[in-house]
Amino acid sequence: MRIVHYTSSRARVISSRALDFSAAREGGKWSCISAFCLCALMLLPALASPSPQDIERKIDALISRMTLEEKLGQLQQLDGDANGEYRSEHLELARKGLLGSTLNVRGAKRTNELQRAALESRLKIPILFGFDVIHGYRTVFPVPLAEAASWDPDAVERAESVAAAEAAASGVRWTFAPMVDIARDPRWGRIVEGSGEDPYLGSAMARARVIGFQGRDYSSPNKLLACAKHWVGYGASEGGRDYNTTDISERRLREIYFPPFKAALDAGAGTLMSAFNDLNGVPTSANSFTLTRVLRDEWKFDGFVVSDYESIKELVNHGVAADEADAARAALSAGVDMEMVSRLYGKYAPGLLREGKLAERTIDDAVRRILRIKFRLGLFERPYVDESREQAAIMSATNIETAREVAARSIVLLKNERDVLPISKDVRSIAVIGPLADDQLDMLGSWSGDGRREDAVTLLAGIRAKLTPSTKINLAKACSLALNGDSSDAASIGEAVRAARDSDVTVITLGESADMTGEAAARASLDLPGRQLELVKAVIATGKPTVVVLMNGRPLTINWLADNAPAILETWFLGSQAGNAIADVLFGDINPGGKLPVTFPRSVGQIPLYYDHENTGRPADPNNKYTSKYLDSPVTPLFPFGYGISYTKFELTNLHVSSQTIKRDGSVRVGVDVENIGKRAGDEVVQLYIRHIAASVTRPVRELKGFQRVALKPGEKHHLEFALTSEQLGFYNSDMRFVVEPGDFKVFAGTSSIGGLEAGFRVIE
Ligand code: NOJ
Repeated sequence: MRIVHYTSSRARVISSRALDFSAAREGGKWSCISAFCLCALMLLPALASPSPQDIERKIDALISRMTLEEKLGQLQQLDGDANGEYRSEHLELARKGLLGSTLNVRGAKRTNELQRAALESRLKIPILFGFDVIHGYRTVFPVPLAEAASWDPDAVERAESVAAAEAAASGVRWTFAPMVDIARDPRWGRIVEGSGEDPYLGSAMARARVIGFQGRDYSSPNKLLACAKHWVGYGASEGGRDYNTTDISERRLREIYFPPFKAALDAGAGTLMSAFNDLNGVPTSANSFTLTRVLRDEWKFDGFVVSDYESIKELVNHGVAADEADAARAALSAGVDMEMVSRLYGKYAPGLLREGKLAERTIDDAVRRILRIKFRLGLFERPYVDESREQAAIMSATNIETAREVAARSIVLLKNERDVLPISKDVRSIAVIGPLADDQLDMLGSWSGDGRREDAVTLLAGIRAKLTPSTKINLAKACSLALNGDSSDAASIGEAVRAARDSDVTVITLGESADMTGEAAARASLDLPGRQLELVKAVIATGKPTVVVLMNGRPLTINWLADNAPAILETWFLGSQAGNAIADVLFGDINPGGKLPVTFPRSVGQIPLYYDHENTGRPADPNNKYTSKYLDSPVTPLFPFGYGISYTKFELTNLHVSSQTIKRDGSVRVGVDVENIGKRAGDEVVQLYIRHIAASVTRPVRELKGFQRVALKPGEKHHLEFALTSEQLGFYNSDMRFVVEPGDFKVFAGTSSIGGLEAGFRVIE
């Protein structure tokens, strides 16, 4: 049995290393030698890297020799071409020591060429090469929202470490990930890039991603420096419209939006990216409360902050800077160290210094933070990448296998009536229908790194690989994905119906194209785009057993499907191995065990809809008009946060709390048994929620405080333990102090955010 614990990732990293050694010990002499070599290898970066004091001394020495122009050059990041080429200007700037960093420039040969130019400069400060390695580099993994649906931080860590190794072999040393924005509005296209609506799950994923990218020491040549983004509140863009205003109370910031960033920093993330949004009247790229007071003064963050793409220049549009010079002043003084793409620091800082509007100290501090991270990365010692390793590191058989495994773990089974799933491999004929059924590009999802469509396995290919050549596959693309449909759709729907009629079972793919989520991809409707609903209605009307395979990057309003489709698999955008992973689940080689990381609403009108809402003075009551509800819709979600079923059944029993009362600084253990009472092996994610009944400020009706994904054989039962500590029981009071208050707590153990077993305990003075 495999148990995935989500807590204490640092401890896990250490213990898995410890296991490596003991395994080596068991193997005898050769293993001893390999353990010794491994040990030496692990120590190498540490030996090679200077101590923190050395680093600060080296920085002092460098800063004392730098001209203002060279200092401002370190604060500048410029972008290369989308295909990874650098621009000729970059070479010139690098030779003069005026280019701190690039984005998009990649490929071992190119990065080495540009680096060589930087090392010809007077002070030989290396360039930091950044790229959006969001869910894989060349081997594309599931989109982050999908990975979060695995509720398996270990799997996510593995995915990011593959991504890091591939990208690093290609000369990239810095990823603009993880994106840890909490998002509760599925209209927002960038919901696909994060881990959904919950700060606890989001923090577990943030931690796993940072550790996956950076490892224990990001100076290792196969690791990337992580960048938690977008600091902060970006996911709360009003109306779900990208780049829009956010207005968030300090409590919500501290309890909902900050925690995944804190988790990323505690896991060692070296950088943060400021965001595009206006936050409570001060845009996040000029917000000294978030950038300096919280980040540096409270959290003691000593890495650096990069702006988002031209977000400094956009301060003029926001109306908090009178002109570009003022924008540079505002961002630098608030704590944005590096400027992405726009060039206001370099252009205006000298004048601002002369006019006394900016202190030289502010520039030096920013330079110091950037150099500190460059030293920690080992860039000064190892500025180049080994070009001979690039080919072998990319898309290796193990990387592809990991992508398939993580993809299958990310699938969520939403419905399965009369055991339509899994499909027998002996089926004589199967219809494979829908615009995404044989589509190689969309399944990669948005931000697919250096992924190539030709590497992707479509669902059709995945299905074909599971069946013998004697099985007849009837393929029908059926209709377009375009938001407004296509004129040829009606005829194609007819063909799809014929394909379904001619087959024993139908698999129909429905969803969005990859570019309907991601940056600048907000939707006002969450319905299936184009004529897909018409298509699926016609196919299901044939009466043939039908499985809906959803591919999408956000919750969709799929009420008709929830009522009428016999089986629904939520597969998101699963990356290069999507087709194989979905086929693994369709034919029962893998039992789906993912859970929704975000609520699926019934309609756009219900948004925002999230499970950890407050109770209100008049909670919704269907029998009482004057309660918090709608006249024309239930208040409940279509599918709740944490939901997902399996080909087998699980039962939770024996919820037990270790103590009925605890002190404010005490902790309590919660135990529960989970048993597989069905006929197939499968995974369940046991979720632990609490509710603080009465406190000095209102508390959510439920808050996730623990989860474990367990794999159980039929009839197997396992006892799980969770710890609830003061860190999990506390909250921010009206003075914004983190406190644990006395009072009664309910505890729920369940398989989604609704229902489950219930117990309680009391916190006393
Ligand atoms: C803009 C996006 O908001 C950000 O997430 C990304 O990292 C940068 N562009 C660089 O591509």
